[in-house]
Parts: sequence; structure tokens; C-alpha cells
Amino acid sequence: EQLRDDNLSEETKTLISSLPSTKDFIGKLYNYQGCWYYPNTLQGVLNFQKGFKPQETDIIIASYPKSGTTWLKALTVALLERLKDISSSDALHPLQSDNPHGIVPFLEFGLYLKSSTPDLTKFSSPRLFSTHMPLHTLQIPFEDSPCKIVYVCRDVKDVLVSQWYFRCAYLQKELDKRLLESLFESLCNGVGYFGPFWEHVLSYWRGSLEYPKHVLFMRYEEMKSDPAVQVKRLAEFLGCPFTEEEEEEESGSVDKILELCSLRSLSSMEINKTGSKYDVHHSNYFRKGEVGDSKNHLTHEMENKINMIIEEKYKGSGFKY
Ligand code: A3P
Repeated sequence: EQLRDDNLSEETKTLISSLPSTKDFIGKLYNYQGCWYYPNTLQGVLNFQKGFKPQETDIIIASYPKSGTTWLKALTVALLERLKDISSSDALHPLQSDNPHGIVPFLEFGLYLKSSTPDLTKFSSPRLFSTHMPLHTLQIPFEDSPCKIVYVCRDVKDVLVSQWYFRCAYLQKELDKRLLESLFESLCNGVGYFGPFWEHVLSYWRGSLEYPKHVLFMRYEEMKSDPAVQVKRLAEFLGCPFTEEEEEEESGSVDKILELCSLRSLSSMEINKTGSKYDVHHSNYFRKGEVGDSKNHLTHEMENKINMIIEEKYKGSGFKY
């Protein structure tokens, strides 16, 4: 649906005709505020910018696609869910009744895709949203709004390979090396969907330095290597740190949350084995979840080229990956 252009207002059609455009193997992309979008996504971005009013307690999960969004959404849901009094109910945990993307919808896809005034009344506080837009496009006035944004960043080479698998699954195609090469070219040229990757990352990196109470910068690799530390960091940032009692529990709360949100646990839930949303089968959000899988698919030349570009783009920013 994102790739089509059947959802554009007259205003957007006029705007689009003045924007830089390019094409990838799926469709036409337009550059708006420094970021590349397929037409319907751009309409969602514009609707969002027109209509979204942040509330003090809002939490927005942000990422470049395939960086660990699903995992971060699940962890955030589980952290907040543990604060609720569940003794009175034996209902399923939300993560067992819906996919993380159903519980934490995307602003520019699901919610604002068709309207700048979607019905948000079903959201209780804190409202949980997500986005792939870069930080500047969110236009959140942090000085006046204490809403919180959590960004997850991942090694771009693993992001690329993850994208490749995901797109092939989405297009119901066999793994096709030409598709990987095309994604690689787009990435290097900074013209991929939601790219350039480095601008995306830097927007949130800088935001996290400037507004540390509002923007938390997380790394997929650290979440993998030290999940307990990272989930505690997330809990603190969200204002729901683990209590001493929780930390002392025999089978600790931290471990329970990590287990519930593990790739194995989430991917084996019925809802994630069978459901679908936004034209995507839930099962496609779960694959290997490993650090360094790109080594199995990218050539040395590809790796070197990406490393060189990234080093050049991050130079002077203080950001290291
Ligand atoms: P791989 O394709 O490398 O396996 P996103 O959620 O942003 O779409 O990112 C998808 C990537 O996160 C996939 O990476 C997927 O396997 C991985 N992933 C999904 N759920 C995860 C989890 N609970 N723990 C760790 N990684 C997870």
C-alpha cells in the first residue's frame, strides 16, 4: 500500500511534482525534508505533520526499517504492562493477542496514512506510537513537550541483509542477489526508502545528545550482547525503573521480560505465526536476529564500500559505530 500513489491529495500531487525523485526496483521515491519516501508514505508523513499533537506522556519508538523495531516495541509493551494490576484478570498478555506492530502502530503508515485527524481515542496514556521518519520530520517541540522517543540503531550491513530477506518475503520472491545489489546501490547512494541511512541515525543521535531526557539512543548489538543492562536502561528512561524487589525476585522480572520478548518466544506465538498487517505476514518480522549475518551475504568489496561511506558520513559527528 505504501508503494502506491492512490492516496494522494491534490495538495500532495502538487508538492510531489516539485520534489526530487528517483526510482528503485519497487517504485518511485520522493525526497521530502531530506528523506526518501514512496508516495503513499509521503502522504502519511504530511498528514502526520498537519494533524499530530504530542501529549506529555507519549512514547514513540523510532527506527530505520529492519533495525530491531519489533523487538523494541515488544520490550516497551512488556515493561509498561508489568505496571498494570493483572491479578484481577487472567486475560492473555497483549503480546500474545497481537503482533508488536499491531499494539504499537506506525504514525505515517497505519494511523495517518489516510487522514490528518485519525481517531486516537482508543489509546490510553501513555500512548505508544512508532515511526521510521527521521527526527527532524517529527517536529516535536521538546521544550514544551516531555514526550519520549526511543531510537534503535543497527549495523547498516545487517540492516541491508535483513531488508533483502524482508523484501523478498514481501514480494513473495526467491532470494534474488540482484535485489540485494540494488538495495546496496540505493543504500550507498543514499536514496533508499527512509534514507539516507546515516542522516537518519545522526538525526536521532544528535537529538539524544541535545535532549537526553526525551530521546534515548539504543543499539541493537548492545541489546543482544547485554540485554538486561539495556532493558533496565530503557525502563529508567521510560520512567518505570525496576524496583529493588523486582531485581531481587527469584526468577527476576528482567529475565521474564527478556524471555517473553525473545525472538524464539515471540515468533512461536500463534498470533505471529498466522497473522498479517500492512500487507505483511507477522512471521516475516522474525528471522535470525543475529549480529553480523551480513558476513554470510555481502562480498568484501560491498562491506568495505559501506564501511568507507559510513566513516566518511559520520566524520566530525562524534558518532561511532
Ligand atoms: P534479521 O533479518 O537480521 O534476522 P525490524 O523489527 O526493525 O523490522 O527488524 C527486523 C530484524 O529484527 C530481523 O533481523 C529480525 O529477525 C530481528 N528481530 C525480530 N524480533 C527480534 C527479537 N525479539 N529479538 C532480536 N531480534 C529480533
